[in-house]
Amino acid sequence: MSKRALITGITGQDGSYLAEHLLDQGYQVWGLCRGQANPRKDRIAKLIPELSFVDGDLMDQGSLVSAVDLVQPDEVYNLGAISFVPMSWQQPELVTEVNGTGVLRMLEAVRMVSGLTKSSGGGPPRGQIRFYQASSSEMYGKVAESPQRETTSFHPRSPYGVAKAFGHYITQNYRESYGMYGVSGILFNHESPRRGAEFVTRKISLAVSQIKLGLMDKLHLGNLDAERDWGFAGDYVRAMHLMLQQEQPGDYVVGTGAMHRVRDAARIAFEHIGLDWQEHVVVDPGLVRPAEVETLCADSGNARRELGWEPEVDFEQLMRMMVESDLRQASRERDYRQLLATGSW
Ligand code: NAP
Ligand code: GDD
Repeated sequence: MSKRALITGITGQDGSYLAEHLLDQGYQVWGLCRGQANPRKDRIAKLIPELSFVDGDLMDQGSLVSAVDLVQPDEVYNLGAISFVPMSWQQPELVTEVNGTGVLRMLEAVRMVSGLTKSSGGGPPRGQIRFYQASSSEMYGKVAESPQRETTSFHPRSPYGVAKAFGHYITQNYRESYGMYGVSGILFNHESPRRGAEFVTRKISLAVSQIKLGLMDKLHLGNLDAERDWGFAGDYVRAMHLMLQQEQPGDYVVGTGAMHRVRDAARIAFEHIGLDWQEHVVVDPGLVRPAEVETLCADSGNARRELGWEPEVDFEQLMRMMVESDLRQASRERDYRQLLATGSW
């Protein structure tokens, strides 16, 4: 019989790639969706017609128990979160509720439906349901060492990072307290043409496509010197799945090991359309964060050795892929507007 997976955060970037990957592996996939008439649900339903949906919200314990009970999944992937770091200074309590306590609620739902009580310690993992938590390199914050690995201590620099650290530790705690197969993937930044427009790589690729078509001229950015280890989301969802296929549960760092600055992302994207980024990028101090994570770089040695995971897309390929995708989309929209304006159907 095919395995069943439940994904929270199905309408997000990673949810869509993970759902496609699991469907390719023969899984039946359910996405947890919140809200009344969520427009992002319609979009993902069109993109992946084989998906099933179940209602639920990480703010609502009862809805999560009902969802897990209804789906009876073999694997739960908890990707749901408010994922834009600056939001976490504007609404710290909400972000803590969703990204921190929300993890606890999801773990409780899995524990209750699996009938797990306290662990007698040791032995193989218990319960039928395996749990994946979307932890983040943002937990490393002001980094204690470079590159960062599973044993590097956390020093989060945003309420987002603090909430993610809670989610990370509570997942570890349910593994130790109840013997649950619960793991966290400490994923470094990963992007794609499906990335939200608020994140820097997509903000750049969208702006470049608009500038190419003469629809805008200047791109406002914040800290150009921030360094990130950027990879392709399609590569990273393979690691999530692999983490739940191991005999023993464990946490893994996932990243490419290559670091680039925000200014490199801009340079590559503008070069791809034959323009000089410095003529179009304007630094806006208002976009600089109250406490910045200056540098992040992954040591994914454990994931490579133990999971057999390797990224396939490098940073240059990623930026070019995103620019190409946004250019195609922007050109289609321009052509459509021209048709409307001229009436020449
Ligand atoms: P994303 O595109 O922002 O998607 C976030 C998802 O969370 C959306 O589907 C959103 O659903 C859902 N969500 C928000 N609030 C919710 C709530 N109260 N209850 C249930 N679902 C809720 O994020 P992503 O890039 O796919 O990232 C997936 C996960 O990995 C997140 O937990 C993120 O923090 C973590 N992560 C991401 C990266 C990265 O570089 N992408 C790196 C490390 C960790 P709606 O449509 O209803 O808003
Ligand atoms: N968003 C944004 N917009 N970031 C900018 C800008 C800008 O105009 N200018 C410079 N940056 C810098 C930010 O200050 C940050 O140092 C870096 O670009 C990356 O910002 P984001 O793309 O917003 O991502 P992030 O690193 O804050 O967070 C992402 O990665 C985390 C993993 O490290 C998100 O996906 C998080 O959810 C994820 O946990």
